[in-house]
Amino acid sequence: MSHPTTDAVLEVEGLTLDLAGDLAQPRLVHDVTFAVPPGASVALIGESGCGKTMTAMAVLGLLPAAVRVGAGSVRLDGRELLGLSPREISAVRGGAVGAVFQDPMSSLDPTMTIGDQIAEPRMLHLGERRAPARERARELLELVGIPDAGRRVSSYPHELSGGMQQRVMIASAIACEPRLLIADEPTTALDVTIQEEILELLDELRAQTGMAVLLVTHDLGVVADVCEQVVVMYAGHVVERAAATDLFAAPRHPYTRALLRSMPGLRAPRTLLDVIPGRVPPPGAIPAGCRFRPRCGFAVGDCTAEPGEDAVGDGHTTRCLRVARGDLDLEVAR
Ligand SMILES: Nc1ncnc2c1ncn2[C@@H]1O[C@H](COP(=O)(O)OP(=O)(O)OP(=O)(O)O)[C@@H](O)[C@H]1O
Ligand SMILES: [Mg+2]
Repeated sequence: MSHPTTDAVLEVEGLTLDLAGDLAQPRLVHDVTFAVPPGASVALIGESGCGKTMTAMAVLGLLPAAVRVGAGSVRLDGRELLGLSPREISAVRGGAVGAVFQDPMSSLDPTMTIGDQIAEPRMLHLGERRAPARERARELLELVGIPDAGRRVSSYPHELSGGMQQRVMIASAIACEPRLLIADEPTTALDVTIQEEILELLDELRAQTGMAVLLVTHDLGVVADVCEQVVVMYAGHVVERAAATDLFAAPRHPYTRALLRSMPGLRAPRTLLDVIPGRVPPPGAIPAGCRFRPRCGFAVGDCTAEPGEDAVGDGHTTRCLRVARGDLDLEVAR
């Protein structure tokens, strides 16, 4: 297994998340390792139910009550986050780590003006006084493209459109100049044109502030446009990690290959044959050995053994016995 570089903002290593209860296989997420370098944009991709949100929630200290950390490490600038007290982790969240979720209304407080919602983290985490924090809130609203920001600071969330609410959410998430922004499907609830604007905004903010971004998304088109590195998850495993250019030019794992083929527009137009048959197995029904085996067109007898993560290039790893052995590429080429 290749280890992340130590100068990363975020290092997740060997992370395992278990579901409480009496499932024979309670693992939601198993042995997940990846890193986010300073100022980089890393995408976490994979079908629905693969464990992307749970991984992000583990970093934020926001795991649901039924989910426990079984093993592993999550370090922010070298500091271990797993095992921090609720108070310590909430100081990290909203401080050095900002978060943006799919539905801004679940994160915004309907009873507070948007100016106060952006000013509050600065007062809370940076100890800033109210007047300068309010002034910074106005600047942040301008930065995220809210027109007439001076007046808008006094608006309430329900007075804004969904796209504007998401901009407010982003302003609040970056209010304390985080080292890392975690954005989990930040645009899924928005119109397509607004989606693009929000993603461009995140990318501009990353360039301006130097913060790193971990973007959880289904949208491979977005990944190709804005992300430098990609982490592909399948059924709780990281099955491939690579620079985005390498991943799109030469995906190695059969799951990544299938995922890219199933994307309209990226390669040849989608055909029925290209859609990955079957579904992601739920926890409790994960097959032994390679988790993708039942859906994989290239599975062979020994895929019943659990594959490890192997380096297949510079900063490129996969979790596939056949890729590691070198016989998959021969078969694909035939
Ligand atoms: N609150 C919860 N309690 C217990 N298990 C959960 C909870 N939320 C999700 N899960 C389970 O955890 C696994 C991983 O789910 P997760 O939400 O991380 O997937 P995801 O990759 O983010 O999917 P999506 O693309 O649909 O958002 C799934 O099997 C899911 O059923
Ligand atoms: Mg999710």
